[in-house]
Amino acid sequence: MKRILISETPNLIGQKVKLSGWVSVRRDHGKLIFIDLRDRSGIIQMVVIPDKVEAHQISKEVRSEYVITVEGLVKERPGGQEKNENPLGRVELEVEKMEIISRVEGELPFDVSKKDLDVNLNTLLDNRNLSLRNKKVNDIFKVYSQILKSYGEVMRERGFLEIKSPKILSAATEGGANFFKIKYFKREAYLAQSPQFYKQAGVGAFERVFEIGTVFRAEPHFTTRHVNEYTGLDAEMGFIENFSEIMDELELVMKRIIKDVKEKCAKELAEYESEISVPENFPRIKLVEALEILKKEYNKETEGIDIDPEGERLICEWAKKTYDSDFIFITHYPASAKPFYTMPSSDDPQFTEGFDLLFRGVEIATGSQRIHNYQQLVNNIKKHKLNPEDFKDYLEVFKLGMPAHGGWGLGSERIVQKILGIASIKEAILFPRDVKRLAP
Ligand code: 4AD
Repeated sequence: MKRILISETPNLIGQKVKLSGWVSVRRDHGKLIFIDLRDRSGIIQMVVIPDKVEAHQISKEVRSEYVITVEGLVKERPGGQEKNENPLGRVELEVEKMEIISRVEGELPFDVSKKDLDVNLNTLLDNRNLSLRNKKVNDIFKVYSQILKSYGEVMRERGFLEIKSPKILSAATEGGANFFKIKYFKREAYLAQSPQFYKQAGVGAFERVFEIGTVFRAEPHFTTRHVNEYTGLDAEMGFIENFSEIMDELELVMKRIIKDVKEKCAKELAEYESEISVPENFPRIKLVEALEILKKEYNKETEGIDIDPEGERLICEWAKKTYDSDFIFITHYPASAKPFYTMPSSDDPQFTEGFDLLFRGVEIATGSQRIHNYQQLVNNIKKHKLNPEDFKDYLEVFKLGMPAHGGWGLGSERIVQKILGIASIKEAILFPRDVKRLAP
């Protein structure tokens, strides 16, 4: 017999089937043994009666997380009809044969069959192979997978070519100290802290490019929104008239991601009680305006022209209140706060033609128009007290004719974190890396 998925059983009442999966729980009721079996499609209750002597004997050995294969008869579950909206709750399997494929060594540190795992973050991550099996934890990665799929789809539809840029670099990408140094044969090399330079080079060849790629950041942060290795959803587009076009494109992308997640992951969203407000247009305000709002509405004073995490949270609160929007663009950050490749504003070069996109209290993306003129770029590198010689390879493409262009860097894990309202970004990463965590 060929193995079928548990989700197929409601359509096979009265038929014999073969199922394989993990034992979620075993309950003994006198001589009857009940086992909940889990596969990637769902959970089914199975019953083993003493008459099936061999299967009954084996089932007495079975414990949570054992992998087993069973054959049996799909039956309507007594009383299941009225109680259950979930079709799998309406059927059960009467087991006839059972085989143990693999056992659990030692004791399990916690019960993954619980709806909510009440363990702390370290326990959750230390025992990642186990915690990933919990339904609610598992759901996070289904939503995440949908986000990656939607991003790829919408970018391709919009004419962006998917690229993969190198992650081992001869020089630190954007300057600064947040890069990891590695040994590369007899030389030193760096792990890419952004695909920035290569996606700009991509514009030189393909006009529009996007990348879903690993980003390494040697930042000693201990926050709920930073990790040292994350997956960036980057994009870069040529022949723009101004940086609003980049925001238009990113807005379209985010709307598509949210629409798809709402449609395709409705069950997972319901599990997390997540409702997302997406307005007709995302509000867009200048940073100085945001700071005025913070002062007026929340009595929050800021030093200089800068917004801190609390300010970001409050301005999102304001956007929700004023526009019923979970998203807001903040534009025109000071040039001193943005990387050297950022285009200065034509009306006031102290500010930049760029933006941050905030979603439910945190920055999920930053983007801008870039400088495309070779000489202007060299001058700006110097203005940022950097040495153009260190950017020799990057600068090459600007000597070959470059269109006006710009793009964004979008953090994939922050999107899923905020969609589901998860406390830490680390819960939204399969095997996260932070200052202290390099394993599992
Ligand atoms: O603002 P960042 O550092 O921008 C860049 O990398 C630019 N090259 C992007 C551009 O095209 N201008 O990072 C972009 C996004 C952030 O908004 C955030 O969502 C995510 O990447 N991010 C992180 N996510 C998790 N952990 C970290 N340490 C992150 N640092 C940035």
